[in-house]
Amino acid sequence: MSDQTSTDLREEVRSKYAAAARAVLEPRPGVTAQSVELSGTGSCCGSSAADSCCGAGSASDAVGGFSDNLYREGETDGLPEEAVLASLGCGNPIAVADLHEGEHVLDLGSGGGIDVLLSARRVGPSGFAYGVDMTDEMLTLARANAASAGAGNVEFRKGEIENLPLPDASVDVVISNCVINLSTDKPAVLTEMFRVLVPGGRIGITDVVAEDQMSPTERAAAGSYVGCIAGALSRAEYLDGLAAAGFTGTSVTFTNEAAPGMHSAIIRAVKPAIV
Ligand SMILES: C[S@@+](CC[C@H](N)C(=O)[O-])C[C@H]1O[C@@H](n2cnc3c(N)ncnc32)[C@H](O)[C@@H]1O
Repeated sequence: MSDQTSTDLREEVRSKYAAAARAVLEPRPGVTAQSVELSGTGSCCGSSAADSCCGAGSASDAVGGFSDNLYREGETDGLPEEAVLASLGCGNPIAVADLHEGEHVLDLGSGGGIDVLLSARRVGPSGFAYGVDMTDEMLTLARANAASAGAGNVEFRKGEIENLPLPDASVDVVISNCVINLSTDKPAVLTEMFRVLVPGGRIGITDVVAEDQMSPTERAAAGSYVGCIAGALSRAEYLDGLAAAGFTGTSVTFTNEAAPGMHSAIIRAVKPAIV
């Protein structure tokens, strides 16, 4: 991909998610973060909501595609409504990551902050949860949600997941919910996850993943890049990429077929304790 194409795609993604955040920050009748994400040329797996991809399994507005309930009954109780309304994930990385008291967690592409706030609860006051997002409007929303939740152990940083604004070996766990498929440089994301993890640290990620036989053209036919599916890695590409970055104990498990050949998936891996 040329530098120009990559920059153009990233700006398209940023503008789409800025509009999704504004739908929550400045509510208008009939406009939701999910409907914005699926609107216009950015619609993902097809032209109807029933074919939708990210956002389809939002905590508040499940419309098909991915699983209907990303979060367990009661799991989002007590969170600011705006954090739940802005949920645009395709899984529940908190459930995948098995977080413990005192751990330091990083959420890649933290959006309105739902998974950072849930992580912060899980790791408690002796732990910490960071979110990184490149979209100013999402950061504004996430910071407002953290303030309204009274969460003292969270921080949202502006940055790109291909060049994370965190030092080496600074977090125990990296989570992410339906974001890596949007990246124009996925090897850089995998390398950055490895860099910021402590030795022995782990990833617990949910993402959109293609079956191995799907060609890039077939993936593109499943929807636009912005809507998330066309940019997806295949299962083998994910496993190879994680191994190339240095991870061990890798697995990519399909959980729900969102469109023919395209799945929401759980991705797990470990940074070896001795690198
Ligand atoms: C599909 S939404 C998911 C948001 C959140 N994880 C959730 O589950 O609600 C994608 C988010 O990732 C951010 N994002 C996309 N590409 C990014 C990149 N390359 N670097 C940083 N953030 C990115 C967008 O701004 C947006 O907030």
